[in-house]
Amino acid sequence: MKLLVTGGAGFIGSAFVRHVLAHRPEMQVVTLDALTYAGNLENLSAVQDNPRYTFLRGDIRDGDAVNEGFASGRFDAVVNFAAESHVDRSILSPDSAIDTNVRGSARLLDAARAARVERFVHVSTDEVYGDIPEPLEADETYPLKPSSPYAASKAASDLLALAYVRTYHLPVIITRASNNYGPYQFPEKLIPLMISNALEGLPLPVYGDGLQVRDWLYVDDHCRGILAVLERGTVGEVYNIAGACHLPNIEVVKRLLTIVGASEALITRVTDRPGHDRRYALRGDKVARETGFVPEVAFEDGLARTVKWYQENADWTARIRSGAYRDYYAQNYAWRSSEA
Ligand code: NAD
Ligand code: TYD
Repeated sequence: MKLLVTGGAGFIGSAFVRHVLAHRPEMQVVTLDALTYAGNLENLSAVQDNPRYTFLRGDIRDGDAVNEGFASGRFDAVVNFAAESHVDRSILSPDSAIDTNVRGSARLLDAARAARVERFVHVSTDEVYGDIPEPLEADETYPLKPSSPYAASKAASDLLALAYVRTYHLPVIITRASNNYGPYQFPEKLIPLMISNALEGLPLPVYGDGLQVRDWLYVDDHCRGILAVLERGTVGEVYNIAGACHLPNIEVVKRLLTIVGASEALITRVTDRPGHDRRYALRGDKVARETGFVPEVAFEDGLARTVKWYQENADWTARIRSGAYRDYYAQNYAWRSSEA
């Protein structure tokens, strides 16, 4: 089987490429990635010499680049990870999220249709459901009520993908996963930011009261879930991929401080994120029933592995932090600099 993996130089996409090449000796992988601030070829250095792997630089918003990507092989399936993936950036500047997540996804769906691929897995997020009030958990029929420009752009791409199934019989399957964590995650998301700051003795900016709840999924479990859906899911269906680990942010931060061995005095309460979703909670029983996938990595183990990776790869973080990231950070702090 030959796979086209978009966004394969990012956090989850690179973990998926490494996972597929390690566990599916019959699969070949071509990665198409624009290498935005979040794309990093270092994330793929472990597979760069693998004869079953090829990297192509290209932007999914650019029809020519997408067509060139498809022309590079006869692909059986596409897995679309390419996205502007950060809520805070989408709040500061919604256009990039809308362009890549909606228009870029549309370009890919068109090209996949022309190439007559047998499967198109569109990787989406639990954020499309918006806030989930206690004690509910969202199943795949839960109404879409996204809160941020990022979540709305992902919901729009989900709906486009489903429209392509209905109208053109494009064999799309959608996955919606909860918050991922693990090695190689860009240090702008909660867990890698907090670990990196704790390791450097910098303040840990907790938004608002820190009682917002997220459901945590170790990245390798997510990759196993996507592969299960690719291989055993049903076309036209949506599958939630849940972590089954619901925790308030402040609890996550305290636990990682304990593992790092840094003081809770580093925790700094800052202004809350505008439109901040209070709670995410997913039901993951459909994917278990239909594909056999269940997450395996307990949060304590996944968090310990993640801290260890950031300790051992401080140079990876340092290279990111010495680049354009600093400008983003300066801007980002404008709306969350004050202590709450
Ligand atoms: P990431 O930001 O780490 O990586 C995104 C990758 O996409 C980067 O390599 C980047 O260069 C590439 N990219 C961005 N715009 C592109 C474009 N226009 N053309 C080609 N490539 C482009 O993101 P991630 O955290 O790995 O997320 C991957 C996917 O999983 C996204 O679709 C995201 O919505 C989804 N998702 C993420 C999470 C999470 O917790 N991170 C949870 C559920 C779903
Ligand atoms: P994030 O990792 O940005 O993921 P998402 O917004 O997609 O869930 O944030 C996870 C949670 O952590 C979210 O409730 C916002 C909060 N958060 C902070 O409190 N401080 C931070 O510096 C960041 C980046 C996030």
